[in-house]
Amino acid sequence: MAVMRIYKYGEAILKRKMKPVDPADIRKLKPVIDDMFETMDEAQGVGLAANQVGLDMRLAVIRVPVGKEGDTIEAVLINPVIVEKSGLMHEEEGCLSFPDIFAKVDRFRKVKVHCFNEKGMPVEINAEGLFAKAIQHEIDHLDGICFVDRVSDLGKLRIRGQLAKLIAKVKAEAERRKKR
Ligand code: NI
Repeated sequence: MAVMRIYKYGEAILKRKMKPVDPADIRKLKPVIDDMFETMDEAQGVGLAANQVGLDMRLAVIRVPVGKEGDTIEAVLINPVIVEKSGLMHEEEGCLSFPDIFAKVDRFRKVKVHCFNEKGMPVEINAEGLFAKAIQHEIDHLDGICFVDRVSDLGKLRIRGQLAKLIAKVKAEAERRKKR
């Protein structure tokens, strides 16, 4: 198991649409999925998409708190597709690729998703609330869309300074990696 580097806002892979996973290859992905959960946990996130760790595949992991203290729902989404959606919510979101930046985003309150799980089995997931929000956020990542792309103009104005600082920081980090 290993913690992977999380790609940040401004890095090209976050803007790209990821390639579908061949279902025949899913069983080989166990080590990658384990590393993604470890990386997400270390960063204290509730979801992580493959492009956030530099991998071009339609794969995301999610673990969100539910109900009682300490209870969680965990999901591995491979080639996920939203097949039904209903209701609306407008809540604060963050993202491991945008440290310390939060903004309100419109999402569907409930979604039904078809995908493969980590065993390569086709599954249907019915999600609502925080779980539904995380699923929509992660599927957006796999389509090259970040949550800030869905923030209103007014909301964007509010986080503009933070985004500019983050881009400068990400550029400086990329320079340091080149020199190593
Ligand atoms: Ni994210």
